[in-house]
Amino acid sequence: MKILFWLPQSDASAWLQGLSRALPAAELRAWQPGDTAPADYAVVWHPPRELFAARPGLKAVFNLGAGVDAILALEREHPGTLPQDALLVRLEDSGMAPQMAEYVQHAVLRYLRRFDDYTQQQTRGEWHVLAPHPRETFTVGVLGLGVLGAQVAHAVAALGVPVRGFSRSAKHLDGIETFSGELHGAQFDAFLDDVKLLVNLLPATPDTENVLNARTFGKLARGAYVVNVARGTHLNEQDLLDALTNGTLAAATLDVFRTEPLPHDHPFWQEPRITITPHSSALTLRDEAISQIADKIEALARGETVSGVVHAARGY
Ligand code: NAP
Ligand code: GLV
Repeated sequence: MKILFWLPQSDASAWLQGLSRALPAAELRAWQPGDTAPADYAVVWHPPRELFAARPGLKAVFNLGAGVDAILALEREHPGTLPQDALLVRLEDSGMAPQMAEYVQHAVLRYLRRFDDYTQQQTRGEWHVLAPHPRETFTVGVLGLGVLGAQVAHAVAALGVPVRGFSRSAKHLDGIETFSGELHGAQFDAFLDDVKLLVNLLPATPDTENVLNARTFGKLARGAYVVNVARGTHLNEQDLLDALTNGTLAAATLDVFRTEPLPHDHPFWQEPRITITPHSSALTLRDEAISQIADKIEALARGETVSGVVHAARGY
């Protein structure tokens, strides 16, 4: 079997070595512009459109991350980019969930115990003991209860705060109050009502774009916190800045942005109530990703079905 590999801005050799150890019979090659030789599988992150040109034999495309928005955006802009019969398969956890859980737990504790305010006080040389937020009303809402969202919800619940979750289809998660439906319906409003910290773990789809907007912020508890660890397109940036200015929100932690890296002149850099990390809340781990993908390639080669197949029409 022939496998193409594409991971921009990284040394492909360690990946190719790992893949060839996991799939010793496979012929692996890093894709180069102009390469239209046959391939059975592609293992990619943010691939250029040309990688898919003239590939009728491609059986599956493995995305080196959980979010497939970049590949589906290519398909939306240039219909027919993805070979019609090729499956699109995303990473399922593969070591990302524990990282995401730690990141969100850290943000929850930081705001709950007011370490963000103590950091600001320190810059002014001030010594005041601040009352922590009452734990029992520090309700955390997790938007998206998929592979990552469900594990994040449980990790946050372990901190002793009330946790709610929202998904498209109904879910039952022990210890989590769950809501489901459309992002504009009554169930969504009930989910948001009085939430003190909103975590976004939705996929980026046409339905979820700008879901973090003034209306959503206005439904939360006054002075709430927002943690966006999904995609920059989920956030209406001006609405966030306005909500921080008018007190609707107290602070935000952002790991993802519409433009990455975040441009040097972006106003978020100057806003002390926004904490910025460089899309690092949950990194793709090489060994875990290789092992998951190799197992799925072997399963597909045996004619079996695999999990993690993206529904293109749904967008995730
Ligand atoms: P997933 O398993 O596909 O889960 C997606 C969840 O969102 C599901 O619960 C789904 O509902 C829900 N959902 C989707 N569209 C919805 C809508 N219109 N209304 C309500 N709920 C909706 O995805 P995942 O593996 O947890 O990953 C989530 C996202 O995290 C990825 O797409 C990616 O963008 C982001 N991510 C970021 C990083 C980072 O480093 N910052 C790392 C990894 C992933 P159903 O359960 O009903 O289908
Ligand atoms: C990272 O952002 C991912 O989608 O895995």
